[in-house]
Amino acid sequence: MGGLLTILKNPQHPVEISVYHTPELTPDSQLPDCAVVIDVLRATTTIATALKVGAEAVQVFSSLSDLVEVSEAWPSDKRLRAGERGGGTVEGYDLGNSPLDCTPELMAGKRLFLSTTNGTRALQRVEQAGQLITASIINRRAAVDYLCKMQPATVWLVGSGWEGGYSLEDTVCAGAIADLLAQEGIEFTVGNDEVIAARSLYQQWQGNLLALFEQASHGQRLLRLDRLEDLRYCATEDLVDILPIQRSPGILMAA
Ligand code: MLT
Repeated sequence: MGGLLTILKNPQHPVEISVYHTPELTPDSQLPDCAVVIDVLRATTTIATALKVGAEAVQVFSSLSDLVEVSEAWPSDKRLRAGERGGGTVEGYDLGNSPLDCTPELMAGKRLFLSTTNGTRALQRVEQAGQLITASIINRRAAVDYLCKMQPATVWLVGSGWEGGYSLEDTVCAGAIADLLAQEGIEFTVGNDEVIAARSLYQQWQGNLLALFEQASHGQRLLRLDRLEDLRYCATEDLVDILPIQRSPGILMAA
């Protein structure tokens, strides 16, 4: 892999891809044409799943008190409040952050108001980007299809990490996106070394992502909370064809 990858579909305007492991490592002096926010365990997996089963939108908050205040103005039969801290459900909330709780019976037609430890902070960090989509392992192909179609000049793959630290699962997803883009013949330039490292990580673990997640620190945290089925689901490649896209700051809808 070099600085410029494969086939020149649009040689005048190559796509430049950068990977940032955490919101804290994401530059604050500029913004990309398209930000792809990743929180594989589990916020962006949950967002894709909620929209897949019919949620009207997912509205995200880094602050729990802001979530309560804004959701109060929404009809109570048309809203669900999901709060996660440390992997567990925040007391008093309808849901935590398990994608497996997102059933059509519960979600259809409702707005999911969501606050999580890291994922919703990452979303907030780049909410002013020209375009913002979310990706996870389960909707990786939908994200890549969007990038192939739109070919934004600059793309940031922004991981959520854990409280400022690196996470394997977000980096491997960034690598899976870069890998599929290359396979689809999309020319891209490598914006930083993290892209090469992420792609190598994915190439090492593809087909065996559950085993990687079981070793990851947040994967282990979730296993201690008895969430093996969450890990299994979050590790399933290209399971859903939903693309969450930000329609106004903090509000994600199916594309
Ligand atoms: C987060 O935002 O840190 C995660 O989505 C945590 C989780 O619920 O697993």
